[in-house]
Amino acid sequence: MPMQYNPVALQPSKHKVKDQMNPKTIEIVKSTAPVVKEKGKEITERMYEIAFNERPEYRRFFENTHMKNPEEGRKQAGKLAASVYAYASNIDELEKLSDAVEQIANAHVNTRVIAEQYPVIGECLLAAMKDVLGEAATPEVMAAWTEAYNNLANIFINREKEIYHEQEQKFKAKFG
Ligand code: HEM
Repeated sequence: MPMQYNPVALQPSKHKVKDQMNPKTIEIVKSTAPVVKEKGKEITERMYEIAFNERPEYRRFFENTHMKNPEEGRKQAGKLAASVYAYASNIDELEKLSDAVEQIANAHVNTRVIAEQYPVIGECLLAAMKDVLGEAATPEVMAAWTEAYNNLANIFINREKEIYHEQEQKFKAKFG
């Protein structure tokens, strides 16, 4: 289904971080997005393994997610990875993803995802990519994907902050 125009999600403030991305990063991410996508399932599996088996100290970051249950966890890691690839493929025209960003940000707020969880997920995802891509994961490629992940994480963090704020205002207006 084609993305529909969403006036709220397209407000300039929502995507301002995009302009700060280095053009070289955009070029590398776009050119490596197909191979990363092709290996998507392996990357997801590896990410799950890293998050749950190799870094048990990270488990507390996933307590509000379905990741605790292996089957659901793999599904969720797969959804997350798929949206990172969608983002990478559209990295120079992010307005196409506005509806998806809006939907995911709302899912995150509903499950009380907080900013501090993003670097943990990012570390697991990037470590998985590095392992699965092997030699193709040059330092330049990894640096570009790190910048891209951080950029995407910031888009979510900013939008989620706004939604939390809106909810708080509504709560205050209702209950003082
Ligand atoms: C850039 C990073 C992230 C991306 C691309 C991403 C992507 C997604 C996607 C695609 C969904 C499904 C939305 C839907 O079904 O409508 C989702 C839901 C969710 N994500 Fe994320 N996510 C990210 C970061 C995080 C982080 C840091 C956490 C917390 C550790 C998290 C926890 C969740 C939870 C709890 C849900 C709801 C699951 C459900 O209701 O089934 N996500 N995310």
